[in-house]
Amino acid sequence: MGKGQRLYKKAKQLIPGGTQLLSKRPEMFLPDLWPAYYSRAKGCEVWDLDGNKFIDMSYMGIGSCILGYADHDVDGAVKDAVDKGSMSTLNAPEEVELASLLIQIHPWAEMARFSRTGGEAMSIAVRIARAKAGKDLVLFCGYHGWHDWYLSANLSSNKALDGHLLPGLNPAGVPRALRGTAMPFAYNDTEGFLRLIKSYKSKVGVVVLESIRNHYPDKEFIATIRKVTRDLHIVLIVDEVSAGFRLNKGGAHLLFDFTPDIAVFAKGMSNGFPMAAIIGKKEVMDVAQKTFISSTYWTDRVGPVAALATIKKIMKIDLSQHLAYIGKKVQIGWEDKATRYGVPIEVGGIYPLGHFSFKHPEPLVLKTLFTQSMLEKGFLATTAFYASFAHKDKDVNDYLEAVGDCFRFTAQAVKSGNPKRYLKGPLCHSGFKRLT
Ligand SMILES: Cc1ncc(COP(=O)(O)O)c(C=O)c1O
Repeated sequence: MGKGQRLYKKAKQLIPGGTQLLSKRPEMFLPDLWPAYYSRAKGCEVWDLDGNKFIDMSYMGIGSCILGYADHDVDGAVKDAVDKGSMSTLNAPEEVELASLLIQIHPWAEMARFSRTGGEAMSIAVRIARAKAGKDLVLFCGYHGWHDWYLSANLSSNKALDGHLLPGLNPAGVPRALRGTAMPFAYNDTEGFLRLIKSYKSKVGVVVLESIRNHYPDKEFIATIRKVTRDLHIVLIVDEVSAGFRLNKGGAHLLFDFTPDIAVFAKGMSNGFPMAAIIGKKEVMDVAQKTFISSTYWTDRVGPVAALATIKKIMKIDLSQHLAYIGKKVQIGWEDKATRYGVPIEVGGIYPLGHFSFKHPEPLVLKTLFTQSMLEKGFLATTAFYASFAHKDKDVNDYLEAVGDCFRFTAQAVKSGNPKRYLKGPLCHSGFKRLT
């Protein structure tokens, strides 16, 4: 057992759930064997506490580092901000520059507020939207964070959120009184959305959806949502926390001719430094003055400086083309290797955020086996890959060669009738559950 796993054992005694983010739990990858902690990260390389180097072909800081780890330009700007003082009683002027830049990129928007994490920014957006509409009911699809407004959907049925990224999210502690205040519909399901509108028409104040996640939006779906929300004075929020800046130089909604009332950005906008933005039309955003939304660390200087440096760099480079090229190469590679070695898989996701699943009665066994074998070959890998600007052809070629070896081994393991016996530790988790 490496230093990382030893430290993680201690962490579980001191930190309930072990980590601060479900998606960084070692159990989500390779229980008992995942390196768990890093000492250094640069580009797409990560060093664990024992000095082992891995190429990150998994989530790149759970989608936060689209330029790659420790980007020279972003880090340089941040170091400068730290030297000048990252906090004071007066405000950081970079906030105003960032507001102007985001509005320039999204000409439909007129004002911006800032916070530091995606879920928190979505909560702010929903608060503003409910205050503007004067109605509580939120219809939504997709994943939007851990806050009460969102988890309340699981008070009516504890499986309501299962199809929206993370299964098993337990709403213990979310006030029961919030039951029925947030209801899900499926992405691209125009009929399902219209059914909810028909049933709850007079109560709906807010509609929330991700601009894109796994599939490109249907034109009819987007057009219906925009028309219905406009006609019924419902505030429309687009969540760009994961999609933003990956497909284009801004929110993905710009690509789909889709004008929301509010758009929310976080992870992709500041390359690993905490920052989030809520941008919107003046008549909606102005309502933020009527309701109390305020926090000390939303005023630090590092966040806006990192976002400005990240966005300005994205404006100069061909990031979206690079992410599409790298992501496509990986997705085609998965298909090729799987076909060659006779391992049935299903590949999905947009090119920058690709994933695959094993078509096997025990997919979690094969998933754990894949992560185990790839780790032994020097890759942080799971059944998803988030492309970054730091991933180059060589990384992908080396990775796909290793994937081929793993799939060949997987085919043999399946043929043996008991692939589980090749696992050196327990099965990975598929969603939220209590750690024992
Ligand atoms: C679309 C979307 N919204 C909101 C969030 C929550 O962001 P955070 O983890 O920064 O709170 C995420 C995180 O994965 C996300 O993908």
